[in-house]
Amino acid sequence: MKATVTAHKDYSISKIDDRVYGAFLEHLGRAIYTGIYEPDHATADKNGMRGDVAELVRDLNIPVVRYPGGNFVSAYNWEDGVGPREQRPTRLDLAWHTSDSNAVGVHEFSDWCDTVGTQMMLAINLGSRGLDEARNFVEYVNGPTGSYWGDLRKKNGRADPFNVKHWCLGNEMDGPWQVGHKTADEYGRLANETAKTLRAFDKSLELIVCGSSNSDMKTYPEWERIVLEHTYDAVDHISLHMYFANRAKNTANYLALNHKLDDYIATVGSTIRLVKANKRSKKNVTISFDEWNVWYHSNTADRAILDGNEGWPHAPRLLEDIYNFEDVLQVGCILNTFIRRSDVVKIACIAQLVNVIAPIMTDPKGAAWRQTIYYPYYFASVFGRGTALNLIVNSPGYDAEVADNVPYVDVSGVHNEEEGTLTFFAVNRHGSETLQLDVALEGFGTASVIDHQVMTHSSLEAVNTAGNQNEVSPRKGSGAKLDGTRLQAALPPYSYQMIRLKV
Ligand code: AHR
Repeated sequence: MKATVTAHKDYSISKIDDRVYGAFLEHLGRAIYTGIYEPDHATADKNGMRGDVAELVRDLNIPVVRYPGGNFVSAYNWEDGVGPREQRPTRLDLAWHTSDSNAVGVHEFSDWCDTVGTQMMLAINLGSRGLDEARNFVEYVNGPTGSYWGDLRKKNGRADPFNVKHWCLGNEMDGPWQVGHKTADEYGRLANETAKTLRAFDKSLELIVCGSSNSDMKTYPEWERIVLEHTYDAVDHISLHMYFANRAKNTANYLALNHKLDDYIATVGSTIRLVKANKRSKKNVTISFDEWNVWYHSNTADRAILDGNEGWPHAPRLLEDIYNFEDVLQVGCILNTFIRRSDVVKIACIAQLVNVIAPIMTDPKGAAWRQTIYYPYYFASVFGRGTALNLIVNSPGYDAEVADNVPYVDVSGVHNEEEGTLTFFAVNRHGSETLQLDVALEGFGTASVIDHQVMTHSSLEAVNTAGNQNEVSPRKGSGAKLDGTRLQAALPPYSYQMIRLKV
């Protein structure tokens, strides 16, 4: 089977915003407690943060991490997480039926972000609370000393403002499961008033208003239109979320799901343009896809806790999906979609980062290791910076549940002019046939292959565990060849590849 691709240097989609490789950490399960924070772990630093986890996170070069929720934020009191630890209250978390000691709050999280080289993107509670809490929180985090909130921050150990730029105005407010769920009009008005108030404090903040929780919501896409009609002038981004599952154990349908993602982005992109036209506005609101990942492996195991049958456990195992090799292919396709839609998707956050539906797993008092999906996220984040190319792809395809003629090859191309590199990320969706990839390179001059990474496995079900951490991991490929301006590579059945060229 053969697929041809044309990559022209001047035929580009957009500069890829680095923030597309963001992540998300929620006070949920063991994401924070025994995830990033475990004071009696052998590798813990003076703040109680696990050094082994920090190292794995640092390697990912993540630009922003959204925090502290998620559903959790909709009943969260940020004040509980500041001040002397021994005075912080333990609270019941209504989103996940657990309890939270509040040992980690905004100060500790900020220190951790410095350690791993990233920036905080904070979410505000617009569920159980509202405008007043939002302005107090922003003033506490970013305000000068010499006023009440800035002075309190100083008293709590931090004189300098944290200078957090990105603020999410609530989380999934369209979802009936959300504490403080609202209609689009109720939320749109509150979000607009909150955004105006925060702007009065600092015009340069980047504000993210909630779009739909997923494209299956009954209120989608009217939710986006109504919310944007209320908020268009006051916000910068609209947030979307989507999780992927293969419950029917149908790999072909599963691996086609990024076509649904593509439709979702296209529809919300069009809705943004509709509202922009209605408003006669010059401004372009863009998309913050601030929750995405595979999420289904742990659903059954989680039921007892979520149904409240286990009381209010602190940091239980929740949403601990163990990812397999098939999920590598899925995450590779998702990231390709974000690269190809970099014209409108300016922020995206893998949900989540540690233990909870995450590329990194830990054992309490034990090891930290890379799940299978760590690798496609790593390759895209580290090597997928630059300009997304508008590739012309000709590939045989197949009909799937969500779309017809889904090409067997899913490919994206990133040109980094400063570094002089051209990188392709490719997935072969075919389960039994090798795909001969033939790429015509136009306008790049002389090229040479500098790296080729391949992920294959004899079993789609293969996973990494504490005891077998490298069962699914990349290996160096040798089959990518350049013949003048033609790149040729053989993509084995069900494989993920990254091919990097010097140009
Ligand atoms: O990431 C897990 C949950 O998924 C988040 O808390 C919520 O926003 C979404 O429904």
